[in-house]
Amino acid sequence: MKNAFNRKEEKLWKLYDGLFKIGAAVDEDKLPQYDDLLDNFNSLSPENQMKPCIIHPEKDVFDFAAADSLVNYAKEHSKAVRGHTLIWHNQNPDWIFNDKEAAYTSSDYVKIMENHIGTIMDRYRDSVFSWDVVNEILSDGNELLRDTNWKNAIGDTYVEKALCFAREANPKAELFINDYNIEYGEKSDKAIEYITSLKNKGVPIDGFGIQGHYRIYFPPLEEIRNFFRKLSKLDVKVQITELDVSMYRYEDNTRLAEPSIIMIDKQRYYYEELFKIYKEYRDIIGSVTFWGVADDYTWLDDFPVENRKDWPLLFDVNHKRKPAFDSICKLVC
Ligand code: G3I
Repeated sequence: MKNAFNRKEEKLWKLYDGLFKIGAAVDEDKLPQYDDLLDNFNSLSPENQMKPCIIHPEKDVFDFAAADSLVNYAKEHSKAVRGHTLIWHNQNPDWIFNDKEAAYTSSDYVKIMENHIGTIMDRYRDSVFSWDVVNEILSDGNELLRDTNWKNAIGDTYVEKALCFAREANPKAELFINDYNIEYGEKSDKAIEYITSLKNKGVPIDGFGIQGHYRIYFPPLEEIRNFFRKLSKLDVKVQITELDVSMYRYEDNTRLAEPSIIMIDKQRYYYEELFKIYKEYRDIIGSVTFWGVADDYTWLDDFPVENRKDWPLLFDVNHKRKPAFDSICKLVC
């Protein structure tokens, strides 16, 4: 029984050691800003530095500088690194899909993909333990796969090809399909059917990255628990990859000066219940990564309403522990 969570020096990852890794996404240039808090985490995800537009700016040019800084920081501080992300429809450099003169054929795109995945995974073969090989590939509508440039260029098999290239590049790395809103509704059935079909075909895939962009009101926690119940019956691993809990409903366009005490408590409750689920399904969960470190910076300050403050993380704007932090610590004390 650990009972020292209130000691200032107790770190979140240590409390969860033996259950799963605790991670945070951070941009390399924000490492100094979060120096006081990063020792709560034993895994880091590059928020942007491994995305194609940064790491592969020209066809024959890879720029590893920013990603290397983050990976080197992680090494120096004994933290694991998740790779995010190899194949995505966003944040691609112009040369891949917007160079009209290049007129790449479908087989050119397969080679481009192989080279992209192979080169990056090879560089980080000893430092990145798991990869979001493909990101946000499932459609929010009726189709199975989202319409993307990659799908248009190669066809539906682009996902399978990407996973095969990834396994070839580093047989030891864990390979994930990373997506959002797969915990409930039709997308959840789609996700389970799709991963089952990939496994049946022998495509190398370890499991799902569940992004985990939630709101204090949604989705219902029971839906999330149900999804884990279903996943636990399949042979798949899970990583929670981008966890945050917004103070706003999705359709709410209002702007708050600060969250109310009631909202802060709702957020505490939501996080506590989530971590109860994660503990329950710890056998399939390898890591839980927050999409950010503290409320002074979050992508949600610009989404879905631009330039509106949100407070979705465990530490407040002054880097103080929030009630949610204490609650998830108490679960393992
Ligand atoms: O680097 C430029 C900077 O030079 C420029 O001055 C500034 C002006 O807007 O933009 C900077 O780039 C921004 C970049 O983040 C780095 O901060 C982009 O505009 C901005 O669009 C980009 O946003 C990122 C977003 O992905 C892009 O889709 C967020 O930081 C990042 O948190 C977010 O992460 C995604 C995951 O990869 C996938 N799942 C959803 C998640 C949240 O959208």
